Amino acid sequence: MYRSHNCGELRSSHIATEVTLAGWVQKIRDKGFVVWIDLRDRYGITQLVLDGERTSPGLLEQARELGREFVLQVQGQVIERASKNPKLPTGEIEVLVSDLKVLNKAQLPPFTIEDVTDGGEDLRMKYRYLDIRRNRIKQNLIFRHQVTMEVRKYLSGQGFIEIETPYLIKSTPEGARDFVVPSRMNEGQFYALPQSPQTFKQLLMVGGMDKYFQIVKCFRDEDLRADRQPEFTQIDCEMAFVEQEDILNTFEGLTRHLLQEIKGISPGSFPRLTYDEAMRRYGNDKPDIRFGMEFAELNALSQHKDFQVFNSAELVVGIAVPGAAGYTRKELDALVDWVKRPQVGARGLVYVKCNPDGTYKSSVDKFYGQEDLAAWAKATGAKAGDLICILSGDTHPTRTQLSALRMEMATRLGLRDPGVFAPLWVVDFPLLELDEATGDYHAMHHPFTSPKPGQLELLETDPAAVRANAYDLVLNGNEIGGGSIRIHDKDTQATMFRHLGFTPDEAREQFGFLMDAFQYGAPPHGGIAFGLDRLVAILGGQETIRDFIAFPKNNSGRDVMIDAPARIDAGQLKELHLKLDL
Ligand code: AMO
Repeated sequence: MYRSHNCGELRSSHIATEVTLAGWVQKIRDKGFVVWIDLRDRYGITQLVLDGERTSPGLLEQARELGREFVLQVQGQVIERASKNPKLPTGEIEVLVSDLKVLNKAQLPPFTIEDVTDGGEDLRMKYRYLDIRRNRIKQNLIFRHQVTMEVRKYLSGQGFIEIETPYLIKSTPEGARDFVVPSRMNEGQFYALPQSPQTFKQLLMVGGMDKYFQIVKCFRDEDLRADRQPEFTQIDCEMAFVEQEDILNTFEGLTRHLLQEIKGISPGSFPRLTYDEAMRRYGNDKPDIRFGMEFAELNALSQHKDFQVFNSAELVVGIAVPGAAGYTRKELDALVDWVKRPQVGARGLVYVKCNPDGTYKSSVDKFYGQEDLAAWAKATGAKAGDLICILSGDTHPTRTQLSALRMEMATRLGLRDPGVFAPLWVVDFPLLELDEATGDYHAMHHPFTSPKPGQLELLETDPAAVRANAYDLVLNGNEIGGGSIRIHDKDTQATMFRHLGFTPDEAREQFGFLMDAFQYGAPPHGGIAFGLDRLVAILGGQETIRDFIAFPKNNSGRDVMIDAPARIDAGQLKELHLKLDL
C-alpha cells in the first residue's frame, strides 16, 4: 500500500493515527533543530515534521538532502500542530515522520510550482506536466471533468445515447480547412479529420437513433485565438422528430442544469434575440448582455446639419457609457486613438459629455446645438454623467467597431463580471453569407441547415434575405453552441448545394452518401453542438480555453512539449506514397 491517506484529508480527528502518505516535496524549511516539509499531492498539502528530539539523526540528515519535487513516501503519526494554519484544510495537524523513502529524485523544476509562478507561457507549455501540478491548472482540469460528468448525467437522463463516430473520414465542411491524413493502403488518397461529426450524426438519425450525443474531438485548421484551438471538444447532439422549439428547450435545460449544478445559479428562461435584432442592438451576433449600453441608431437625429461625416454615412450609431463624462481631454483623445487602431478600424469617434448640470459638450459642437445633443442623449438613454460615443460609416463595419468599443468600455468599467452568467439564444440567422472577395455565397452555419419554412424560393431572387432555422447559444459574449434544423430531403439538399456553387457531380462526389440516405426515409431532425472548452472556461470565469485543456497547442498550432508537428522520415513518406518538394 503506497498510502493510507492523501495529502488533503487529515484533520484533528486523525490525531494519533499512524499514516502513510505519498507525494511531492512542495517546500522544505530547515530550522536546524527541526525540518518541516510540505508534502503535496492532487488533494492538498500536509506538513511533515522531523526534529532532533523525536526523529532519528539518520532520518533528519536524509530529510536535509531532499529537494523540491522529490517524490516521497512517508510514514508517521498525526500530531497536533503547535502553530495552526487556518488557511490550509490540513492546517490543524502535522505528521511526525518515522520513516521516509525517496520514491524518485527530481531535478530542480524550470519554474516554481506555486499558484503565482515565475514561469512564462512558453516554459509552462514545454513542461506542461509540471504546470499541471499547479493548483490553477489542476483545478481547471478537475472542473472540466465535473462539467463533463454533469453533461453526461443530464443527457443520459433525457434519453440521449452517446455514440462514437469515426475520426478518419472525408471532409465535413464547417467553414475551416481540413487536417488530412494520407492513406498507406490507398495510394494518393487522404482521409480528412472531422471538423465536426455533422454528417454522421445526421446518418444516425436516418438510422433511427433519435437522441444522440457525443463528447468528441473536432479538428479545424484555422487561425487560432484565445477561444480557438485546432483540436477542440464538442458536446455534439442531434434529435429526430423535433422542431427548433424542442431543441432550444432541451438545450436550455442542459445549460440551466449546468449553471445550477456547477455554479448554484438558477437563471430564468433565456432571452431570445433574432440575428437582426442582435446586430441592431449590440452590433454583434454574440452579444454580452450582462450590461446595457445598447446601440441607438441616430441617422434621423443627426443627418439634418452640415456635418458631412454623418450625412454621407449609411449608419450613425451611438452608445451611452455610464459615468464616463468625466473623461479628460487626454483620455478622450486616447479613446479616439483606440477606435482608430487597425484592430478596430474606425475612422473617428464623435463624443458627447452629458454634464452633471444637464448641459452637453460634444466634439461636434460646431454642427449640433444643445437640442440635438439632448435628442441623442434621449435616444441612447444617456443620463447626466454619461459619455455618448458615436461612430458612423457603412452599416456592418460600423456596428462591429461600436461593438468592440462597447466591450472595451464594459471591461474598463468592470461590467464583465465573470461571476455573472447571462445566457441567451440568437435565432433566425441568415442562411447564406456573401464572401465580399469572391462574390460567392457560403452557408453561414453549414450546408445542411434548412431555410425557414416557405423561404426556399427566395433563394432564387434574394439569397441574402433567406433566414435559416439556425440558432446559437451565447453566454457572456461568447458563442458556446450552435446548431440548426437540417434539410432532410434530397431535392432541397441538392438545391442548397447548387446555391453554394457545387455542380451536381461535385455534390454527388462529396455528399452522395448523405443524399442517398435521405432517400431511405430520413426523419425530420436537428441538433446543436456546444464548444466544451469554451463552456468550461466561461463557467470557470475565464475566456482562455488553453487553461482548461491538459495539453493545448500554442498560437502557431504547435505542441511545444512533444514538438509537433514534425517531419517524418523518408521511409514513412515512401510508404505513404508522398514526395515532399521543400
Ligand atoms: P459550430 O461550427 O458552430 O457548429 O461549432 C459548435 C461550437 O464549437 C465551438 N468551436 C470551437 N471551440 C474551440 N476551438 C475551435 N476552433 C472551435 N470552433 C468551434 C464553438 C461553437 O459554437 N456541426 C455544427 C453543430 C450543429 O449544427 O449541430 C458545428 O460544428 O463554441
